[in-house]
Amino acid sequence: MAGRIPQNFIDDLVSRADIVEVVNARVPLKKKGKEYSACCPFHNEKTPSFTVSESKQFYHCFGCGAHGTALGFLMEYENLDFIDAVEALAAEYNLDVPRENSRFNPSVAQDDKQPLFDILAKSAELFKQQLKKSDRAIQYLKQRELSGEIAKTYQIGYAPDGWNFLTDHLGNDKKTIDSLVATGLLVKKDDGKQYDRFRDRIIFPITNRRGHIIGFGGRVIGQGEPKYLNSPENTIFHKGQELYGLYEARKSVRHLDKLIIVEGYMDVVALAQHGVHYAIASLGTATTTEQLQRAFRTVKTLIFCYDGDQAGKKAAWRALENALPLLRDGLEAKFLFLPDGEDPDSMIRTEGKEKFERRLASAKPLSEFLFEQLSEDLNTQSSEGKSLLTEKAKPLLSKLPESVFKDLLYQKLAELTGLNINKLQLESSENTTLKPTISSTRSNREVKLSATRDAIALLLQFPNLSCEINIPDTFIDSEIQGLALLHEINSLIQSHPDITSAALLERWRDNKNFPALQKMMQREILGSDDLQNMKRLLTDAIDNLTNKHHDLRYEILEKKFHEGSLTDMELEEYKALFSR
Ligand code: UTP
Ligand code: MN
Repeated sequence: MAGRIPQNFIDDLVSRADIVEVVNARVPLKKKGKEYSACCPFHNEKTPSFTVSESKQFYHCFGCGAHGTALGFLMEYENLDFIDAVEALAAEYNLDVPRENSRFNPSVAQDDKQPLFDILAKSAELFKQQLKKSDRAIQYLKQRELSGEIAKTYQIGYAPDGWNFLTDHLGNDKKTIDSLVATGLLVKKDDGKQYDRFRDRIIFPITNRRGHIIGFGGRVIGQGEPKYLNSPENTIFHKGQELYGLYEARKSVRHLDKLIIVEGYMDVVALAQHGVHYAIASLGTATTTEQLQRAFRTVKTLIFCYDGDQAGKKAAWRALENALPLLRDGLEAKFLFLPDGEDPDSMIRTEGKEKFERRLASAKPLSEFLFEQLSEDLNTQSSEGKSLLTEKAKPLLSKLPESVFKDLLYQKLAELTGLNINKLQLESSENTTLKPTISSTRSNREVKLSATRDAIALLLQFPNLSCEINIPDTFIDSEIQGLALLHEINSLIQSHPDITSAALLERWRDNKNFPALQKMMQREILGSDDLQNMKRLLTDAIDNLTNKHHDLRYEILEKKFHEGSLTDMELEEYKALFSR
């Protein structure tokens, strides 16, 4: 498996890349004042509202709100995930992407996760060995016609019967037990003792997009309840974000152009065994928007494959609702319903790859499925039926981003109802354009009110200011939102004095604050060519925040003082604040 890309390489790459070059090679830009502009590639428009700032190395569309760095642009524009975008950007600058062994990576967040990845990998290895030794498990997989080769590709294993298999083999020390409990492989009882979660089950390891095992699904052999047992949610396993089989699909198909989304582990594995290597599954829950976003970063076409029964239709409908907001031009969702009682696993075994792929080719376009479902139980010939259809369709269509596809769906609705398309779209655009104006004025006001955001925006856009200021260490665990982040950004700049804004921003890509930071990057700062002015603004903001922080601390400590619950250290702090 490829090791991790060193962080300093990513920093350098982002600093070296020129977003104007990167964008211009794909979307020709025109210079307009200090910035460059074009019609936005992410939504349909006739007058340019897409701008690229050379000084910030950041793009922003005033029409649809898309924004990001050069790396972010490549991810969106070329549907790449982060790693692939790094590779692509490096290739444009003729750089080789170095890899390192992830064990030696000193990244803080990764450090406490590494033992969990390690224990999962070791356990998976043990389960694989056990499969070879168990006639019962082998027999079961044979009966399900699974080949040894595919079992190997998907790292399928067997967790033997017994309560202490893992600790017997991996050790009984506290560290091992803690890791096993943290990953959910061991269940902790009330009395503090623990036992194996997976016993006498076929094991399907679940990998993240880098190929690390993050959890397991375990199937009973034959009949039993529950049929599948899954790893619980934990710090490295988030069911709503991961897709079973995505890593394997990307590995085995060089240029993935579509993905099939199926319901089960066995479906993914059986399809792959029969040559359909591009199936993935959500993990036993409805497919979330996050999962779809991830899938759409990899391919432009998703085909949802479900049972033809009522439950299948319902699941498909939920998937449709989650997919709508993501469907910009060029992306496509389709639906394939199988005959009653069949799933992709049984289907491909009975009819083989060729016939199955023919089915796929005839999958229903989203628009067809949408109007078919909406018209169900309606008489669309009657006026009542037509108006009901319009009422049901409008909220769904309004979820779509501005696009030719959206226009086409309105056109179809107009055809079905005989209503005037301009009227339909006008009504809906009234609804949708209202929202952005409200939210943008509100966010402008919030930004003005917030010294935290001022400070973060200034520091993010002008990392050089870091050497001019001092941020108190007490911000690290301040109750005031954003102060810890401000401190963290400043510390990062101090340890990497040459870091650029864009590289700084990229450091937060996997962090919950990333969207907020992107917005701060895009903020216009007036008078930004006057460095003294910037410095004063930032110092003022920090002074202001320090006061707020002290006020709040004082309030908290005062309350504790009256309760008599101050520690010695808190008492010192309280006194100091009092005499402030
Ligand atoms: P299915 O019951 O359709 O399973 O559940 P399947 O894949 O066809 O399994 P086989 O062919 O009987 O072995 C679909 C998916 O729902 C989740 C699992 O992810 C499963 O693959 N599931 C199902 C659970 O998490 N728990 C369950 O008890 C059942
Ligand atoms: Mn099945």
